[in-house]
Amino acid sequence: MPIANGFLHAEDFAAEFFFDLAVGHCERCHMVQLTERVDPARLFHSQYAYFSSLSTGMVRHFQAFAEDARARYLGAPDAFAVEIGSNDGIMLRHLAAAGVRHLGVEPSSNVAAVSRERGVNTVCRFFDEAAGSDIRREHGPADVILGANVVCHVPGLHALARGVALLLKDDGLFVFEDPYLGDIVAKTSYDQIYAEHVYYFSLHALEALLAPHGLAITGVLPQTTHGGSMRYEVSHAGRRVASEAVAALREREITQGLHRPETYHSLRGRVERSREELVALLRTLRADGRRVAGYGATAKSTTVTNWCGIGPELIEFITDTTPGKQGTFSPGMHIPVVPPERFAEPYPDCAVLFAWNHRDEILAKEEPFRRAGGRFIEYVPHVRIMD
Ligand code: SAH
Ligand code: TYD
Repeated sequence: MPIANGFLHAEDFAAEFFFDLAVGHCERCHMVQLTERVDPARLFHSQYAYFSSLSTGMVRHFQAFAEDARARYLGAPDAFAVEIGSNDGIMLRHLAAAGVRHLGVEPSSNVAAVSRERGVNTVCRFFDEAAGSDIRREHGPADVILGANVVCHVPGLHALARGVALLLKDDGLFVFEDPYLGDIVAKTSYDQIYAEHVYYFSLHALEALLAPHGLAITGVLPQTTHGGSMRYEVSHAGRRVASEAVAALREREITQGLHRPETYHSLRGRVERSREELVALLRTLRADGRRVAGYGATAKSTTVTNWCGIGPELIEFITDTTPGKQGTFSPGMHIPVVPPERFAEPYPDCAVLFAWNHRDEILAKEEPFRRAGGRFIEYVPHVRIMD
């Protein structure tokens, strides 16, 4: 597998980096994780491709998250919020605008620069134990530490947990959300599996991970983002009472079998079937002379195209709104990535919805494509041409 967000130019094909993408389940602590990790410095740098604020759905999501955090945990006059993986400031800009003392910790310098332009205080580094300790020394302890779609990216989870335990006030809260393993299993959304996502969290595995650091999960709140995520509220052990939802989710994970190896053997079978069905459908469409495009050059699309062996002979181009991805080629399979204007010049017959997590936003926007007879193809939870 190549790097999921490693969109590249033709002159870089020969030097493209590949690694073995495989996932393991620990029968002792129940963590589901990559067996080979890629050095984070190779993934998060000055040309990081993912800009959070390019989806209006995510802009709305993080405005609501920030407002909720402000109302519930940041009422004190000098309250201090830290966000791990603050990207282009999509969440913290709301706290900055409200005059809340804050700090973003973001190692990818290009997105960190955008957040600073928006008035968000940002340090450009990886969050770990040393970062937690430095921030506490310079700014004092945090009332709240936020993180979205970042904790599962961090290979050194124990160093992160130590940093959080150091930085968090005695009665502070660490609130983070990540794609949820229960949704991946239920929807066969195997395209969440790529180098950046080192971990696929369940409540069980997170509780086992955090307990040795004196941290406890006291709240869980399912989210619809990224195809199904979970928001966790974490405090120093013994400082808060866990909500009933935590016990209920623990039960649900057992019913779903997230602790059983057979669950993952069965998932593997469904992932293989999904590949057979998608490739067969695309081959049939091409044999019938149909033009097929990809919609959204997502990190997820890199997993799908490489796992299925789908190149430009099956998908002519992928359209994407990110300026930095346009004019490049998709990692591994080298499908051209083009700007949205190209999508309608003229419309293809079908488009594989790689950004399926933004389905409603895209279907509304692309009503003219569908009116012109265009059809979207979905592969989560099943391969099908949408009506
Ligand atoms: N929170 C944003 C961005 C998610 S992408 C959102 O949900 O849309 C993951 C981000 O985490 C990237 O911007 C990446 O540079 C950053 N990141 C990766 N490892 C990190 C670490 N150890 N500490 C802080 N940020 C990290
Ligand atoms: P996303 O699905 O959020 O994440 P990931 O890369 O982690 O799988 O990425 C959305 C991508 O889709 C991003 O490159 C922007 C693109 N996109 C469009 O091209 N058009 C759209 O209407 C939307 C919502 C996203």
